[in-house]
Amino acid sequence: MVGARNLAALTLVIAISAGSVLSAAAQVNRADVDDEREPVRTGPIKQAEDPSGPRRHFRLRNPARLSGEEAERLYGQIKQEMAKCYGISKLPATGDYLNWKRYNNAPYPSVSHGNRFVSNYANSEAGAYGRYEQTGRLPVGSILAKDSITVGKDGVAIPGALFLMEKMPAGFNYVSGDWRYTMVMPDGSIFGITNGVGSERVKFCISCHLAVEKQDHLFFIPDEYRVK
Ligand code: HEC
Repeated sequence: MVGARNLAALTLVIAISAGSVLSAAAQVNRADVDDEREPVRTGPIKQAEDPSGPRRHFRLRNPARLSGEEAERLYGQIKQEMAKCYGISKLPATGDYLNWKRYNNAPYPSVSHGNRFVSNYANSEAGAYGRYEQTGRLPVGSILAKDSITVGKDGVAIPGALFLMEKMPAGFNYVSGDWRYTMVMPDGSIFGITNGVGSERVKFCISCHLAVEKQDHLFFIPDEYRVK
């Protein structure tokens, strides 16, 4: 009997030590994995100053530095897919704009559009856009489209918003110079459209573009990226 009891105790000891060896092994493995991981940190949370709409774009804090070629390559990989998603908004321009004339030679970082890499297109009505500062007032029906990609320091490119300006008939909106501003989110939902859904949310577009009221509210493209 005594012998059997000892045996049972011994078995228990072996079982316990086997258990602790196992859990030690699990810890070692966990430690290996942790070593390979970047520490995960959280950033500051920005609260809306006014719930009816932002005062400026949500800005990417840590954009990658890319050469024109790199930006063009990344953009080329996702632009069709991006346009398809914008198309969920059912806005006609989203299905067309990639076939319009493009006025920049590579996606360039736009600080005023949230540090995203942007490209600019104009439909045929807006053909005079290519005269840049000499464009004058664009005719009714002109549409300018600016799509965007976000590229973080990890080099991963993800779709950004689509920005549209469409010239409407006189009287549409005096302050905006009769431009209808639209922002389409990367998932195809409409963030805001002047005099339409979420109009308040795109008022900040009008405010900033007002700075160049004298040239029909157009800022044009930084010189080094212009297609002449
Ligand atoms: C803080 C200022 C600022 C705000 C806010 C802003 N833009 Fe712009 N926008 C610019 C500048 C500067 C350019 C030209 C350079 C560039 O692309 O960054 C531009 C260019 C454009 C263009 C190409 C036509 C042009 O002016 O040459 C479109 C389209 C456009 N913006 C749409 C929008 C929309 C839509 C919004 C709001 C959702 C918006 N923008 C908000 C400053 C701004």
